[in-house]
This record gives sequence, C-alpha cells and structure tokens, in this order.
Amino acid sequence: MDNLYKDLLTKAKEMSKNAYSPYSNFPVGACVLYESGKIYTGCNVENASYGLSICAERNAMSNAISKGEKTKIKAIAIYSPKQKMCMPCGACRQWLCEFSKDDSVKIILEEKKEEPKVLTLKDIFPFGFRFDE
Ligand code: THU
Repeated sequence: MDNLYKDLLTKAKEMSKNAYSPYSNFPVGACVLYESGKIYTGCNVENASYGLSICAERNAMSNAISKGEKTKIKAIAIYSPKQKMCMPCGACRQWLCEFSKDDSVKIILEEKKEEPKVLTLKDIFPFGFRFDE
C-alpha cells in the first residue's frame, strides 16, 4: 500500500508540471485513485479573471467523470513544488465528499520525511454535507 501511495504522489508531482498558474505561481498536481483501480490526474488552471481558476483536485475529479468513471474515490494525492503538505481547499474537500462512499478516503501529501503523510477525509472534513441515499 505504501508503494501505491508513493506512486500516486509521483503522478501528482508529474502532473503539477502541466499546471497553468501564471497569476499565483503556485502549481498543483493531483492524482485520484478510484475503487475501479483506475487513476486520473489534474492540475490547476488559472484565469485572468481569478475566480474562474480551477484547482488540481477538482480538475482530476472532473477528468474522471468525463472519462466515464462510476466508482467511488479511494485516495487522492496532492502535490505542489511550492509547499510541503499541500492541503486541499474547502471546495475540493466538498467535491471529495461528493464522490466518496464515506470519509475513510485517504489524502496523501508530501511531508518533509521520505514517507508520504496519509490523512483521511474524516481528519480534514468531518460531518461533510451529502444527501441521504
Ligand atoms: N490550488 C489547488 O490547485 N488546489 C488546492 O487545494 C489549493 C489551491 C490552486 C488554486 C490556485 O491556482 C493556486 O493553487 C493558488 O491558490
């Protein structure tokens, strides 16, 4: 499992190189793993009208949906060369909640040490809003 998490983080790192972030100069890459075993990546894409920018995580989740992914998220790795432990923003946490079965989803981040830091959605977004099933 540890190797899998490292692999997701490596892919997030690769994806951060594609970021379009001329305004913040803060590139971000994300890699999402689904129950299907498939992974999808995304980077942040900014706009001169700043509020229209989209985060790497939501871009990765949109990528999954647009490719026909129907299963739930198991884990997401997030990386920025500008910041260790680059945490998902509030909007991305709500999106993660939307596409997750429960709050056991793993959030994988780069820490100072060699091993990735692994949190859960429960740690960073408890009592998230969902419609009852
Ligand atoms: N950003 C992300 O891509 N993900 C996050 O969770 C936090 C912020 C992006 C948005 C913007 O392009 C840049 O980082 C600075 O906020």
